[in-house]
Amino acid sequence: MKYASISSRLSGLGSDKWAVHIAGRRLAAKGENVILLSIGEPDLPPAPSILDVASNQMRAGRTKYSAGEGEPAMLEALSRHYTQRMERPVGTDQFLFLPGTQTALFVAFLSILDPGDEVLLLDPYYATYEAVVTAPGGKPVPVPLDPDRGFHPDIKAIEKAVTPRTRAILLNSPSNPTGAVFTREENLAIGAIAKRHDLWIVSDEVYAMFIHGNHVFHSPFMEKDLEERTIVVSSISKSHALPGFRCGWIAASAEYCKRAVSVTETMLFGSQPFLEDATAHALEHELSGVAVMRDAYLARARVMKEGVARARGVKAHIPEGGMFVMLDVRGTGLSGDDFARRLLNEEKVVTMPGESFGLKGAGHLRVALTVDVDVMAEAARRITAFANRL
Ligand SMILES: Cc1ncc(COP(=O)(O)O)c(C=O)c1O
Repeated sequence: MKYASISSRLSGLGSDKWAVHIAGRRLAAKGENVILLSIGEPDLPPAPSILDVASNQMRAGRTKYSAGEGEPAMLEALSRHYTQRMERPVGTDQFLFLPGTQTALFVAFLSILDPGDEVLLLDPYYATYEAVVTAPGGKPVPVPLDPDRGFHPDIKAIEKAVTPRTRAILLNSPSNPTGAVFTREENLAIGAIAKRHDLWIVSDEVYAMFIHGNHVFHSPFMEKDLEERTIVVSSISKSHALPGFRCGWIAASAEYCKRAVSVTETMLFGSQPFLEDATAHALEHELSGVAVMRDAYLARARVMKEGVARARGVKAHIPEGGMFVMLDVRGTGLSGDDFARRLLNEEKVVTMPGESFGLKGAGHLRVALTVDVDVMAEAARRITAFANRL
């Protein structure tokens, strides 16, 4: 049979990125004493009240078709949440409820790219970004971030990468994998480039609720003059530990939402009203659990940093936000990939090689902060033992 080129464009994109993770899972399934730090799946439980709302609303008959943009109560909740977080009014007509950030990314690029259009990705970047750009025929263009500057953006390099085919810049702050939180000044400088070249800014803010230390969250969507060109994608997968609910959204201009709803209705024909009710409840009532998770991630990052302090050639950086810590292993002389493979074989600790996230992740490991402090301390002990044997 003849298949559309999308299937070959996407096949193989990314599969080798997960090789260490898959090997680690196999060992764990055999009962080996494996510490799995390779995937960003929240380990703390979701708030029981969110589950209660979902199940009560399901039983109350909220199982029919929903409105295409999202249910009115959900859109109201998003409008209140964003009006408060963006520090300016954001209307109910500025959202599309979607099954998670991943679908929101897919919709965003499907609705703004024509084949051959280029998208600037700040490298290292989240593992699915190449695919969401490539799916509608776009071309990912990596722009390097400097590990020695905390993976913050080099504004001149971004501007230099713009060509007549550039259509969008994809941002992710707090970043997976780097943990960098972009400042307002950085976003304004990127926004100025976007305005000069008439580009979209797609801003993946799935970790927005996890900001550490004195860092301050900023979104280009907070700036009124960037509103028309910014598409925010986010969800409750991380903030409320509910990735299996697949509850996320796009926040953008009313004009964008009016256009893109035809794409989402064609794909989805709505969502599950009882899950929208649970998501609205989460955004309006369950923010204390978010703080508990955020504090746990930071405490675990500190344990990892202290734990590898004596590991030769290894440096841990406390993340500015998010739920990952990057280990810089360049000082060991091994690539991130070799370090991760050997660490798995010799010490049964599973991490993601930085190379899985682009060229600039080379010589790093991404460690998910999804195990409790004592397990994290044991992981750090094993990493130290391995590094000091090299
Ligand atoms: C940066 C980033 N974007 C998007 C996603 C997907 O999130 P969701 O579960 O909301 O689709 C993830 C999940 O790990 C992520 O790390």
